[in-house]
Amino acid sequence: MVKATILGAAGGIGQPLSLLLRLNKKIDELSLYDIVNTVGVSADLSHIPTPQLIKGYVPKDKSDNETIKIALQGSDIVIIPAGIPRKPGMTRDDLFKINAGIVKSLIHQVGINCPNAFICIISNPVNSTVPIAVEELKKLGVYNPKKVFGITTLDNLRLEQFLSDSLNNKVSTTDLYNDVLTIGGHSGDSIVPVINSWNKNFNDNESYDKLINRVQFGGDEVVKAKDGKGSATLSMATAAYRFVDNLLDAIKFNKIIKEVAFVKIDELETFKLPFFITKHTQYFSLPITIDQEGIKLVEFPGYLTEKEVLMTKHAVEKVKVDVSKGFNFVHGSK
Ligand code: NAD
Ligand code: LMR
Repeated sequence: MVKATILGAAGGIGQPLSLLLRLNKKIDELSLYDIVNTVGVSADLSHIPTPQLIKGYVPKDKSDNETIKIALQGSDIVIIPAGIPRKPGMTRDDLFKINAGIVKSLIHQVGINCPNAFICIISNPVNSTVPIAVEELKKLGVYNPKKVFGITTLDNLRLEQFLSDSLNNKVSTTDLYNDVLTIGGHSGDSIVPVINSWNKNFNDNESYDKLINRVQFGGDEVVKAKDGKGSATLSMATAAYRFVDNLLDAIKFNKIIKEVAFVKIDELETFKLPFFITKHTQYFSLPITIDQEGIKLVEFPGYLTEKEVLMTKHAVEKVKVDVSKGFNFVHGSK
């Protein structure tokens, strides 16, 4: 029996993600928690005929910890898109003030009520909310480095789509799925697109730079187009679904799966991570292998061009600053 819980299930990402997970046969129980509207969302989804159990939970008031306890108990996987999204002109870091507190308090409940769950953090700024989650779990004495993931899959989706666009759609995004990836962090130029042999298709710097910039600032494109009504939700729900569906194969069927996520690398088994990463940062988005127990191995992509190495070095510096901000939020600045 697999129980999946979404915290922030009534939001722009939460609702389409709930729909996608409602249709997933690997999930036996779907638990939808939010401070608003999940009773309605789950009533609506419960009319879709599947054998899955589904329930929505809304706390009675700010001091109600009983409702989230019931929502979380027995969860094998917890997905967190709770928090405010950007408006035009904001950076992801501008969300820190509000989302840091939301993530810390939700993770506290996860740590108390389902400490063995796989935890997938979507709330921004990911480069800081993941360290917040890790430090909060450590404080509770329940941190498992193999089971905490910052979801950067949307950057990968964008790279596949935008690269295919720049190759005039001559190559399908499905082929690119296993061949290209993003590493680093999840904000601006902390995102490093790695395009393997597709580099040879870019004879001029201009079109390559355009691709890199579009992936790194893809989030801004959506924020601008939505014009004050939020950020990426449907593509994000799809991205989270791809990650979670893959993870469910590991959790339910003990398959060994490959993914990419923002993880705390220094307490994990690693392979060929360059010193310029491990010396300066404890966190990075990298290719990972996962089984039922969690992350087995963190690897560095096989081959990087000189330019990709330079971008990675720059990303290390960016991530380092964001990670300290998250760490200090839990422990207080020195
Ligand atoms: P949204 O405002 O539409 O939804 C957020 C939901 O969180 C709301 O329903 C709200 O009620 C709920 N919420 C707030 N505080 C809560 C709490 N304490 N407990 C439970 N629920 C709570 O926002 P959205 O568009 O769904 O985006 C959510 C977050 O995801 C944002 O921080 C956004 O920046 C981030 N995001 C991340 C990525 C990524 O690639 N990782 C992509 C897109 C968006
Ligand atoms: C994205 O990449 O679309 C998300 O991180 C949301 C945002 O604020 O850009």
